[in-house]
Amino acid sequence: MCGIVGYNGKNKAIDILLDGLSKLEYRGYDSAGVAVQEKDIKIYKAKGKIINLEEKLKNKKLNGTCGIGHTRWATHGEPSETNAHPHVSNDQSVTLVHNGIIENYQELIKKLQKHGYIFYSQTDTEVLANLIDYYYKKYKNGPSDAINRTMVRVRGSYAIAVMFKNHPDEIWVARKDSPMIIGKGKDGVYLASDVPAILKYTNNVYYIDNLESACLKKDEIIFYDLNGDTIEKELKVIDWDITSAEKEGYEHFMIKEIHEQPEVIKKTISSYINDGSIDFTKCNLTKDILKNVEQIYIVACGSAYHVGVCASYVIEDLARVPVRVDVASEFRYKNPLLKENDLVIIISQSGETADSLAALREAKNRGIKTLAIVNVVGSSIAREADYVLYTLAGPEIAVATTKAFSTQLIVSYLLAIELACAKKQIDKEVYSDLLKEMQSLPEKVNNILNDDLKGIQKIASELSSAQDAFYIGRGLDYAISLEGSLKLKEISYIHSEAYAAGELKHGTISLIEDNTLVIGVVTQEAVYEKTLSNLTEVKARGGYILTISPDNIDVSKVSNYKISIPKTNKFFYPSLTVIPLQLLGYYIAVSRGVDVDKPRNLAKSVTVE
Ligand code: G6P
Repeated sequence: MCGIVGYNGKNKAIDILLDGLSKLEYRGYDSAGVAVQEKDIKIYKAKGKIINLEEKLKNKKLNGTCGIGHTRWATHGEPSETNAHPHVSNDQSVTLVHNGIIENYQELIKKLQKHGYIFYSQTDTEVLANLIDYYYKKYKNGPSDAINRTMVRVRGSYAIAVMFKNHPDEIWVARKDSPMIIGKGKDGVYLASDVPAILKYTNNVYYIDNLESACLKKDEIIFYDLNGDTIEKELKVIDWDITSAEKEGYEHFMIKEIHEQPEVIKKTISSYINDGSIDFTKCNLTKDILKNVEQIYIVACGSAYHVGVCASYVIEDLARVPVRVDVASEFRYKNPLLKENDLVIIISQSGETADSLAALREAKNRGIKTLAIVNVVGSSIAREADYVLYTLAGPEIAVATTKAFSTQLIVSYLLAIELACAKKQIDKEVYSDLLKEMQSLPEKVNNILNDDLKGIQKIASELSSAQDAFYIGRGLDYAISLEGSLKLKEISYIHSEAYAAGELKHGTISLIEDNTLVIGVVTQEAVYEKTLSNLTEVKARGGYILTISPDNIDVSKVSNYKISIPKTNKFFYPSLTVIPLQLLGYYIAVSRGVDVDKPRNLAKSVTVE
């Protein structure tokens, strides 16, 4: 989705803006633009990649030290230079970049047209520049007043950065439901939609809340509420390391992040285990609270939803608490059946996914307790949930999630075990056996990464011409198949689907022809024979079968190719099986020449509905 950057300080703004925009590329975009304060505000925009914008800027001498930039992911109006941001008001008094959607823009355009404003783009954003200009000129009370009046008048979501012709060397910002952070470094103040864009310059950030605004001067940031009164904010420290947002010699962020998994899994486990016991005290999630939970709703999008499906199997089996899992875009509009002692769990890497955030608010409005499993500290979901369990994956840049997924799984296991303990469903021995086995996962993941790469690379290049792929499994193997299938389709553009193995006969099997690729995940001892029967049926119809299983399960009769994983407790297999599934998706995409870190049409952080 759109990305915003800004800088006001001692250094040349254009270099910092372009660097910041390139760090936001992973969010997904189709055009880019910048505005820099010279004698006047200079604006440059280009369709396509940032390199096109850089090309346009080649012989321009921009020495200004204050500016804003934007990567646009088209919602209203095609990707084009005209629709790219920054947008300006009619007489160029106001220059603005925006992330979000203004829902009532057509009504506002009509209002402004009556006052003589004309519009050049198809965007919903242009109306913001003119509306701010309108209020600025009508009430003559300065930028804060004009922005506040605009915020009251518009419906939708936005993070905006604004430069006023009459207020040089100031950047004004405001937000509602779209992400934005403000960094304070030794050489100036920074603005971004996301942490990686400013991590190189500072770790000290302010979070700006909904319906608040701020004025970014060269060495000072002043925050305002909707009444125009100034407010105090606390500077927070982000303990992410800059190297974690760099490729460090890897060809793609995705493969780097796959390899980081042993370390981030270990970090996440250690942060919640104290003296051999799970410790959620830093997020105030006590055993007493868990004891009273009668039903759980897990709500999330994309891969985070797949973590939810895995978690539902583990929680129901271990803690005997009913769990429902929903994709956030469905949950928020279905009038969900929530009861007093329910717990709504939102899983999100970014903490900014619009539908997940709305689902959280829906639950809160109904007075239901909410728990967020989130990676980005200080994100909207983290700030609004009653309880937060952070994953310690560090910055994740590749659009296709890997390490955030793995750490979300870990937090789900920890929660399931703690819940089972609070509900007295497991005794001390089972509890400590589970923790011990969980602590062995980083090493087991490491072994898969070290042992099997060549084999997986080879099979990936053989399979790269597949047209379709089907992933099947039962129980947790089905849950992880959903993720394996998504990993393949989102980055390699091969059609793929995941099925509960027992469902195969109810439709999918009719699609199996000679050499159709079927990936069988076979780890769950209680049902493995049944999955093997399903795979045998597929083989009999010509399917090419790749299995992923531990060596104690004999899959040799059905497999054309087998990937071995170490043995673990039945609940933890998703943490191991997901690794070859990620690698398979990655290497197949690489051999098809796809831009793995930025697959077409996708965005890392989906901040609009
Ligand atoms: C996008 C990303 C996925 C992610 C999903 C949910 O589709 O490409 O990797 O799983 O959003 O994002 P969240 O930040 O809420 O986990």
